[in-house]
Amino acid sequence: MIQKQYFGTLTGHGEVFSYLLRNQSGMSVRILELGGAIMELKVPDRIGRVADVVSGYDSLRDYMLDTTYFGALIGRVANRIANGEYTLGGKSYSAFVNNGPCSLHGGKIGFSHRIWSVKPIDGEEPRLILALHSPDGEEGYPGNLEVTVTYTLLSSNALSIHYEAKTDRRTPVNLTNHAYFNLGGYASGTIFDHVLRIDADRYIPTDGDLIPTGEIRSVKGTPFDFREPKTVGRDFYTDSEDLRLAGGYDHCLCFTDGETREPTLRMEAYEPNSGRLMQVYTNQPCVQLYSGNFLNNAEHPQKGGYPQIPQTAFCLETQKMPDAINREQFDDVILSPDEIYDYTTIYKFSVR
Ligand code: BGC
Repeated sequence: MIQKQYFGTLTGHGEVFSYLLRNQSGMSVRILELGGAIMELKVPDRIGRVADVVSGYDSLRDYMLDTTYFGALIGRVANRIANGEYTLGGKSYSAFVNNGPCSLHGGKIGFSHRIWSVKPIDGEEPRLILALHSPDGEEGYPGNLEVTVTYTLLSSNALSIHYEAKTDRRTPVNLTNHAYFNLGGYASGTIFDHVLRIDADRYIPTDGDLIPTGEIRSVKGTPFDFREPKTVGRDFYTDSEDLRLAGGYDHCLCFTDGETREPTLRMEAYEPNSGRLMQVYTNQPCVQLYSGNFLNNAEHPQKGGYPQIPQTAFCLETQKMPDAINREQFDDVILSPDEIYDYTTIYKFSVR
């Protein structure tokens, strides 16, 4: 079932709507036209009590002004580009620098802050098809990019996000979703007790500006080894240069054996009090594990007035490597006119 609801008015655009998708297994998700953001995601716990497990805001103003990227679709290039600069086909390009010395998450007005056109398709497994046109030259990126993102709420209590993009010139593309999760409920406190498993054998160290140093390092013997389940908190305060520089987990972890053809189970997060389990399937090669270290903007409280507090939510942003456009040994992030960008990530919820 799909319900469209007025959310707010944006100067120069007009009314902005959200869409509530519900299935018959007790799960619902609300998506906003602005940024295609997941505003709310409700799933039952072990005894059937439903909670909203994603961070979000109550007002359009907060979605426009804050830089948390709560739940939003991110593009044209997710994550950081050092100095916003890159070369492609012998030509230099500059993307807008909006985060220290980097261009982060698409630049000045990334896909996260654009109004997407939304086509609802109702049914037992309700679907929203979101589309965006990113013109040639926008934010310093070449080529007209046509982006389609399909959210499907499956009967198995999973949210599938299918990303597709086409271009008419070679351009870097790296799309993701920036949902912040706390499986105890978004207002339930820290995430340190969540048990996390990530099928990643390498990670990317960064400098103090969170720019990759260029190295791809084994997770073995580091706090980034989640191959056996462990709590987020277990190694959080260990003496680690990487964690210190980033103020927590804010790193790209590379899945074992790289990208797959079909979405593959790569990550699990379990919250013992509620019993909620989230399993993440993807065909992307990497994930940005982010422990919400910059959740500290007192001017933009979350839904219901709940404050922003560091490490009270985490992101598992499936994507390709950061600053890959500037690093030969990193993932290929160039989309050509003869290719289709085609990735899927599925967040599946159950209880244990
Ligand atoms: C980045 C963080 C950044 C956050 C934006 C994450 O994807 O890794 O460093 O602060 O997005 O709020």
